[in-house]
Amino acid sequence: MIRSLLQVGITVPQLEVGRAFYELFGLEVRVSGKDLVFRCPGRAQDQIRLMEGPKKKLSFMSFGTNQIGMQSLLGRLKSAGVVVLDKSPFHIPVEGIWFQDPHGDWLNVQVAEPETNTTKSGPEINSHGRYRRIGERACGVEALKKRAMPLRLGHAIKFTPDVDRSVAFYTEVLGLKVSDRAHDILAFLRGSAGGDHHIVAFAKSSHTGLHHISFEVSDLDQIEIGAQTLLRAGYKDGFGLGRHVGGSNYFHYIRDPWNSLVEYFWDIDVIPEDDSAWVPLNVGPEEITAVWAATPPPPEFVANFEERD
Ligand SMILES: [Fe+2]
Repeated sequence: MIRSLLQVGITVPQLEVGRAFYELFGLEVRVSGKDLVFRCPGRAQDQIRLMEGPKKKLSFMSFGTNQIGMQSLLGRLKSAGVVVLDKSPFHIPVEGIWFQDPHGDWLNVQVAEPETNTTKSGPEINSHGRYRRIGERACGVEALKKRAMPLRLGHAIKFTPDVDRSVAFYTEVLGLKVSDRAHDILAFLRGSAGGDHHIVAFAKSSHTGLHHISFEVSDLDQIEIGAQTLLRAGYKDGFGLGRHVGGSNYFHYIRDPWNSLVEYFWDIDVIPEDDSAWVPLNVGPEEITAVWAATPPPPEFVANFEERD
């Protein structure tokens, strides 16, 4: 059923404040009706839709599946008594079906494959015994002028008042699979056909909200070039540089103008559809957060800054 994360919709009080942040983050923007839509350079896929409204809120997440998956999903939603709309409740040109999860958050599912990114990849990496960059610099002086180039939206982490209830709905009804978890505090879910270690995750909070969205970049340099660009412009640091245990990806989080986090990531674990060799972790949240990090996670790393409805 659900195989990929396509885009997220976020309501914000000032679109232009969002435009400035996400353009500096490395995304390309276009106007769509009253909204701003952002894409990764070199990739024909909408990734963020910013909609103007009274307060910051994660308004929807959009997922991709195939024809067979859509038929199966419709059957499961019906069995679960979920009301399904064939038009967006936000009056936006996003195709597919729309419904709410158990905590009232809107989800969209389309028959769509993720687009590939045509951006030229970065230099090869010389690891011990695997020297692949021969006769070529990784960092010439032109590297000083580099900007971060996000390649794709990888995942979104949502706050939920009930991790177990969210996991039950997203696995039993939507077909996602648990990759790792930290008891009833945190759970990472991947698509039904495998792929990235997580495309969505749930973190325990008093109410729903957006913890972070995360974009893949081509290497470690790109993570820090992006993070340092935003920090120099005055945006707030979130957490990083570091490397996670859940997903194994290198990370650096920066606060968006409304105090959610946006992450650059690189080198995430990939799990095949035949996952018989994958053993999910179930450990404490402090164990699953980071192998190492430049600084310990600040206490507000797990704070939910989204207002209650
Ligand atoms: Fe992440």
